[in-house]
Amino acid sequence: MAKPLDGKQLAAEIRALLAERIATRAEKPGLRLFRVGEDPASVVYVRNKEKSSLEVGIRSEVVVLPEQTTESDLLTRIAESNADPSVDGILVQLPLPGQIRSEAVMEAIDPGKDVDGLTPANQGALTLARPNLVPCTPLGVVALLNRNGVEVAGRHVVVLGRSSIVGRPLSVLLSLKAPWADATVTVAHSRSRNLDGLCREADILVAAMGQPMAVKANWIKPGSAVVDVGIHRIDDPSRPSGSRLCGDVDAAGVSDVAGWLSPVPGGVGPLTVVMLLANTLLAFERRRGLPARPIWEDAIAAGRA
Ligand code: GUN
Repeated sequence: MAKPLDGKQLAAEIRALLAERIATRAEKPGLRLFRVGEDPASVVYVRNKEKSSLEVGIRSEVVVLPEQTTESDLLTRIAESNADPSVDGILVQLPLPGQIRSEAVMEAIDPGKDVDGLTPANQGALTLARPNLVPCTPLGVVALLNRNGVEVAGRHVVVLGRSSIVGRPLSVLLSLKAPWADATVTVAHSRSRNLDGLCREADILVAAMGQPMAVKANWIKPGSAVVDVGIHRIDDPSRPSGSRLCGDVDAAGVSDVAGWLSPVPGGVGPLTVVMLLANTLLAFERRRGLPARPIWEDAIAAGRA
């Protein structure tokens, strides 16, 4: 039975670190979250982000805009937030309705306030090994591995998926020269040949391709660490609710082979939220010229001593 990579417990520890440091600041960091439309998953995610940020002392506000909002209206609001000194962090929840180009929106966010790490400037800085604000889910995956004592340096990580939010930035982050990274990284995707064979080579397998239960037990190297980034609601007539959550990994089968497995829910998800809070604090400190050290570095390093 694989050992769980528990994100809930670790997220609570990092939240406590954040709350402690925010409590020492006379002014508090401000986070503005934009949600366009009523996508049910986005409603839940944004509510969670708001609640968690308030809990650690961040001033957070949610701006809800109608489904028909135009791109230029959203861009105007982002420009206002860029110019507003009380806003330290800006997050636009994805996906956006079809009439709005998410690339145009990401390009409009001030990179100093880009707490999602998704602007071209911040993705470029990461690729140049000068990480500024780094996407939250990749940070969460790195913390989850390091804090559970999974050796990363020198090992072969296979990342399934090449999205701009998870797969690609995670592959870059894990390849950085740093004691918590230094991995050999393969990025695999829907056109990769011999996908299951590639996965069997992985000391660490990260499933982030967005397909329910696609990773099967016979894809796994025995004893390896498997991180499941996916989250899906699927039909399950055996449950009173008629449905349940699952990830990109067939957890029931994989847990018999893997050495470590992150649960869904309760694995990567809680860390994604906490890294957003860490990025908001970092953006605030940098913008105000306060001593700023990424709390995610502390959070990652603490378990390695
Ligand atoms: N939708 C799903 N994940 C994310 C994320 O990390 N950031 C944003 N802005 N939207 C998302």
